[in-house]
Amino acid sequence: MKQVHISTFGCQMNDRDSELIAQILSAHDYRLTQRPEEADLILINTCSIRQKAEEKTYSLLGRLKRLKSRNPELIIGVGGCVAQQEGDRLLERIPYLDLVFGTRRINELPDLIQTVRQQGRRLAEVGMDRPVRYRPSERSFRSSSIKASVTIMHGCNNYCAYCVVPYVRGPEWSRPEREILEEVRSLAAQGVKEVLLLGQNVNSYGSPGRDGPAFVALLEKLEPIEGLERLRFTTSHPKDLSPALIGCFGRLSKLCEHIHLPFQAGANTILARMNRRYTREMFLERIRALRERCPEMAITSDVMVGFPGEKTVDFEQTLDLIREIGFDDLFSFRYSDRHPAQASGFPDKVPEEEKRRRLSELQALQRGITLARHRGQEGTWQPVLVEGISKKGGREWTGRTRTNKVVHFNADQLEVGLTVAVYIEKGYAHSLRGTLSPQS
Ligand code: 5AD
Ligand code: SF4
Repeated sequence: MKQVHISTFGCQMNDRDSELIAQILSAHDYRLTQRPEEADLILINTCSIRQKAEEKTYSLLGRLKRLKSRNPELIIGVGGCVAQQEGDRLLERIPYLDLVFGTRRINELPDLIQTVRQQGRRLAEVGMDRPVRYRPSERSFRSSSIKASVTIMHGCNNYCAYCVVPYVRGPEWSRPEREILEEVRSLAAQGVKEVLLLGQNVNSYGSPGRDGPAFVALLEKLEPIEGLERLRFTTSHPKDLSPALIGCFGRLSKLCEHIHLPFQAGANTILARMNRRYTREMFLERIRALRERCPEMAITSDVMVGFPGEKTVDFEQTLDLIREIGFDDLFSFRYSDRHPAQASGFPDKVPEEEKRRRLSELQALQRGITLARHRGQEGTWQPVLVEGISKKGGREWTGRTRTNKVVHFNADQLEVGLTVAVYIEKGYAHSLRGTLSPQS
């Protein structure tokens, strides 16, 4: 049996793709190893969404050179978004790289590896003519026994001006509903309690570019699955967040009270130049509707600073929106040019120094808001899905609320996968601490 080591960068889509890669290769006599030095095959599943993410691939490749010179039989392959974008150029740039496979070529990996091994050829395969065929995920390839991700669509048709995803992940493609239902049923039968539906833009599932009745219908069909307790989805585009989808929160009992809804910027001029197709007012209105429907809703988001042409007044509007909404948490980034996304050719680039300053001001603001949101939970009872013993060990356990907040609490004996009632005593910057109900 041969050994494969897989490094994954980027998003949850990539994490899931790496699980699929491990699963496909296991049927071809490969076994996963955590130690690159003992691997026969090393694969890197890459991300190119921001410059920093892309740089990680090159620095890892640099570190692998030593292993390849020690073991010439070792095969090194790069997949994911950097592979898709660079194709042949990666082989030219990295002389000891054997294989480049695009985001839609995962299913052909065993054949590609065999060609490299048997014919001693270096290959770059980045065609996007076929969708990935996802298989029902198996427990042995997942990082958790009680939580699983299920890809429901991939690709993107939105062409936001800053974003490379439509170029590296291709056009939107939705997985047949029947397949998704079967996969979730089988996961629930294996003991999975929580499923995260994945896609670049899940709420246009089944109907690219429009409000997605197909997505609401999918949620409704997942709800009755026996054994399944929690359902989440990510990522959503605010323009596709329909009233019907908002109406699912609080109505479908398994759908958790959390949404990740990237807003990117607070000023309408910037949103228009980003080609986001919503205004600040529309975004605020959707948040209002979500909270009206479900007051305990946790809302997280993505935002970037220093988009070309962003002036101080525009940045102030972003800060204002953050204050007004009070997100539970924010992922915040400095804008970076991503060729061939449109904005890489826009004038009025913001100096790096200024982007750094804006980012740290924004993050300081959000830290205070997150802490206040966490403290707001003090004195409440929360249903917590038990995930395991916490890193500290001992009697300390960890789990998550339906709003996706991490909770630590003490218990002598407990079972992973149980949902227990925890009284929240203290909110911290990144987690909550509580006391287990004596009835649990
Ligand atoms: N520069 C900085 N951040 C970006 N993102 C996407 N493209 C860029 C870019 N060119 C951020 C967005 C997106 C998140 C996944 O990454 O905020 O929602
Ligand atoms: Fe990175 Fe986006 Fe590709 Fe995910 S889809 S790996 S976040 S570029």
